[in-house]
Amino acid sequence: MTVENQHDIDGILKTGRVVARVRDAMLSAIEPGMTTAELDKLGGEMLAQYGAKSAPKVTYNFPGYTCISINEEAAHGIPGGRVIKAGDIVNVDVSAELEGYFADTGGTMVVPPVSSVKARLCHATQLALKNALAEAKAGAPINQIGKAIQRTAKAHGFKVIRNLAGHGVGRSLHEEPEGIVGYFDRQDTRRLRLGQVIAIEPFLSTQSTHVAEADDGWTLLGHPANLSAQFEHTIIVTKGAPIIATLSEARG
Ligand code: CO
Ligand code: CO
Repeated sequence: MTVENQHDIDGILKTGRVVARVRDAMLSAIEPGMTTAELDKLGGEMLAQYGAKSAPKVTYNFPGYTCISINEEAAHGIPGGRVIKAGDIVNVDVSAELEGYFADTGGTMVVPPVSSVKARLCHATQLALKNALAEAKAGAPINQIGKAIQRTAKAHGFKVIRNLAGHGVGRSLHEEPEGIVGYFDRQDTRRLRLGQVIAIEPFLSTQSTHVAEADDGWTLLGHPANLSAQFEHTIIVTKGAPIIATLSEARG
């Protein structure tokens, strides 16, 4: 969506704050021995406390409140009986609807002991998001976002998962502009517009450049030995630095 007034801006910021708080609470709660269903229950309870509805549940009938993806799972992992273990790299993706506005966020952490490659993968992916956000200005080509992500991945010796992408968000979970990819697409001539609400979500990986759907119909898997990380923010495009909606604390 494109925000048209202060009510729209406030709505996006309100939902953004909620999903950010749930994301951070879930990432902080992760402990070895916990199942992903237990972690998802925490997220579901928090969303309910805020009066927010899980976006994947209301939009796609996803079997969970949040997506939790571990190690070879890149995205859309279904919460269930999988037990989180020491050394696992865990991604939590939280999106929700509140008062008609949708926001989408994600983050990744490593359960100690933290190997050097896993630490570098998380660091590089966070940096890719930061560098992509710096390109997200009104009038700028959308493909500069992917260019920044690809450059950051390469500089750190990682790959980009090419068939996962950022997207428009706001009135629904996934809307125009779709396909904000993590690599430079020369064919993409679209430009960002003032007030556009988009989610930017780089996926960096150690091996896989593509993921495939598992037999469960949801989980997106890389190579069995692949590791990936994702960080995601919902933003409102301005002429300068974007307004990041999915921060857990108020700014200024
Ligand atoms: Co998203
Ligand atoms: Co997401």
